[in-house]
Amino acid sequence: MRSDTSQTIYRNDYTPPAYLVDTVELGFDLDPARTIVASRLTMRRNPDSERAEIELYGENLELVALRMNGKPLGKRDYRIDGNLLRIANPPQDVTLEIETITAPEKNTTLNGLYVSNGSFFTQCEAEGFRNITYFPDRPDVMAKFTVMLRADKQKYPVLLSNGNLIEEGELDDGRHFAKWEDPFKKPSYLFALVAAQLVCQEETFRLKDGRDALLQVWVEEGNLDKTDYAMQSLKNSIRWDEERFGLELDLDRFMIVAVGDFNMGAMENKGLNIFNTKFVLANPRVATDVDYAGIEAVVGHEYFHNWTGNRVTCRDWFQLSLKEGLTVFRDQEFSADMIGTASGRAVTRIEQVRTLRQAQFPEDAGPMAHPVRPDSFVEINNFYTVTVYEKGAEVVRMLQTLVGRDGFRKGMDLYFERHDGQAVTCDDFRNAMADANQRDLILFERWYSQAGTPIVKARTQYDADAKTYSITFTQSCPATPGQPKKLPFHIPIAVGLLGADGRDMPLGQDGANGSTAVLELTEETQTFNFTGVGEQPTPSILRDFSAPVVLEYDYTDLELLHLFSHDSDPVNRWEAGQRLAMQRLLRLTSAVASGGKLELDATFIDAMRKILTDDGLDPSFREQALLLPSETMMAEQMSVVNPQAINAARQFVRATIGTTLRTELMQQYLANMTPGEYSPDALSAGRRGLKNLALSYLAAAPDADAIELAQAQFDNAGNMTDRVAALIGLIHAGADSAAPALQAFYADFEKEALVVDKWFAMQAAAPATTVKAVRELMKHRAFTLKNPNRARSLIFSFCGANPAQFHAPDGSGYAFWAEQVIALDALNPQVASRLARSLDRWRRYAPALQGQMKKALQKVAGGKKLSNDVREVISKALAN
Ligand code: TRP
Ligand code: ZN
Repeated sequence: MRSDTSQTIYRNDYTPPAYLVDTVELGFDLDPARTIVASRLTMRRNPDSERAEIELYGENLELVALRMNGKPLGKRDYRIDGNLLRIANPPQDVTLEIETITAPEKNTTLNGLYVSNGSFFTQCEAEGFRNITYFPDRPDVMAKFTVMLRADKQKYPVLLSNGNLIEEGELDDGRHFAKWEDPFKKPSYLFALVAAQLVCQEETFRLKDGRDALLQVWVEEGNLDKTDYAMQSLKNSIRWDEERFGLELDLDRFMIVAVGDFNMGAMENKGLNIFNTKFVLANPRVATDVDYAGIEAVVGHEYFHNWTGNRVTCRDWFQLSLKEGLTVFRDQEFSADMIGTASGRAVTRIEQVRTLRQAQFPEDAGPMAHPVRPDSFVEINNFYTVTVYEKGAEVVRMLQTLVGRDGFRKGMDLYFERHDGQAVTCDDFRNAMADANQRDLILFERWYSQAGTPIVKARTQYDADAKTYSITFTQSCPATPGQPKKLPFHIPIAVGLLGADGRDMPLGQDGANGSTAVLELTEETQTFNFTGVGEQPTPSILRDFSAPVVLEYDYTDLELLHLFSHDSDPVNRWEAGQRLAMQRLLRLTSAVASGGKLELDATFIDAMRKILTDDGLDPSFREQALLLPSETMMAEQMSVVNPQAINAARQFVRATIGTTLRTELMQQYLANMTPGEYSPDALSAGRRGLKNLALSYLAAAPDADAIELAQAQFDNAGNMTDRVAALIGLIHAGADSAAPALQAFYADFEKEALVVDKWFAMQAAAPATTVKAVRELMKHRAFTLKNPNRARSLIFSFCGANPAQFHAPDGSGYAFWAEQVIALDALNPQVASRLARSLDRWRRYAPALQGQMKKALQKVAGGKKLSNDVREVISKALAN
């Protein structure tokens, strides 16, 4: 909630800071109603700047005192202009002393210093530090921080900040203090403090260089039985970064703190990572396999930021993907390496592709489309997006594909050699990759500068006499806001050719490596020739999803079936199944809409049966291959979206699979039980995944036996994965037993906030849950808008995961959405702004729905005290 009006910031307007900060000493007298912050900054003129002015940002602060080189500054010595405090013509070297007051208990934004469940926490990325004190709050100002915390000892026994604890002791009036020093210079967005009633699991861990580091996971009392997996994941992360990238932990102490009120997943503050409880707390009773995987990924992600983000940080926020895209790539590789098997690695890759198609492609085709390195923004918090994170990770992955795994490591080494301790740009990263490998990566920059998902059309030609095969690629990219025309991208396309026997053919092509060639498409149209091709092949194009593009190729059903049965590349094997399913789902959607007959061909069912029963394949891969494209992905393929028809068509296919493959599903259900003690390892999780997918198809049929099976699984489940899967089966089947099961579930877990979130989310996403039912659930005593996890569990789940109900023809879903965006915005603009994006794709619906959506968008736009966050999203949605 800014006091100034919204203003667009442009990347090209970047200028270096006029003053640099060498040291920061912060003193906190923590009090929920009135926290006093004293700051002493030593500053000096930046030789790289011509400007002679100190610029400090501050928001929602009461300024008590300001002194420069010991002298109090009066109202005429500085200007406050919106959120900027300026001091003109200061001397070369300056010591500033600033005293401010803030009221953390009134801070519902969870940005800056705030109170959660009676304790103090901070969140400073991107621009939260300016809510704590006046400071040149921009990432290219890096300083050494020393922090003194003072607080009531009983209420806040634990006092934490970045770096090392150098002193602690008692004060008068029942207060105590702790002094922390961070030996590394850092930007203000990496500052953190915690003053809380917490307990920790701790351990010393031997680093590769022989040093011992103290590792701690801090949680509320009562949650110590849920910290093992986070701790294990942290140790695995440290080891992995040592081994894969030669990067070591640079501190003697590394802390993870879990907090229940948090806007995002977690935050990489130096030495003091602060996490949403969702990504820390787990035991088999309360957490699912998906939760466990999330914890491993996020713990890894935040830990890996210590090098990619903290030691080398961003020059400005337009470079956000420099740290986020690279760090997501690193956490993806970490998760894949933790599984270890080729098939497990492929499953993680498939999940990444699914996320891209489900969330990033729509973003790239909608009103908020932006390049991986955006050119402008109103509110930077709106640009922590799937494009910056997930597409950013794809861009890094393509670099690795182009220079090879060893070449990528060389590039990383050079990047740190050049830039350790600096705030740099995406170009600096790309240049390090290019220089370390003597590669020309000039064209590759377009992946950073151009928005939109490229479309690659492929045509093939086989010449039996000459035994040559050619593939011609033509690329294009749709216009996006502010970018009507695009230049060709540098696209690595991994290709293999399958013979009639299903085996890979050896490739006679330059750059071919065994049976897969990485072709580099750099022009609009290019033809690649293969020689010595003895028979008409089936092309396997874009293996391992080698680029984030849409591949258009006129595959016949026979070719797809061939690939689905045989492709040696598991990602394309899966992809062939998705294409087969999507074609049918879209045809059935039209049939539903036109009242036509609904039929599913035996060919498709047989292909599914073959995969389902192929015991030579990992259960987790079979689960992926049998999962249908989501309703959102189907919607993206239609020119006019009909949410109810999509839902009906998909339900029809699910029910048909449940009926026609009943025997096989039942067999697999029984064959993939995981008796004994729960373990979250990938193989066990994969078995549960396949078993529970089988259950969900059986329950979709729905037949009485399946419902009984689900009920039995619910009653006897030894872990949350099985319990939730069974409950969802009951709910989706509309079983009479669903309501009592939901009640029992709530009674068993009402003290576990994260499980109560699941309880709301399951109901919100159920096909029978109407807007009215959601409004009823909002009256439940456990519901509150103030906790982001809870708001997400009910409201976001409904608006995002229940399209057929959300898009109710009477517009009631949209009216509900508008109300909630406005209500949330008054509390927490960052969270409200995420919900505000639910109608991004409104122009793709039938005119009647469009009209209702526009009305709802305009209602929000007309809100009197709208945040910049929500205003940016809504005005972009409404713009032409
Ligand atoms: N940098 C964090 C990450 O990717 C995420 C983050 C950015 C964040 N802004 C935030 C977290 C605001 C919480 C609140 O790991
Ligand atoms: Zn991150």
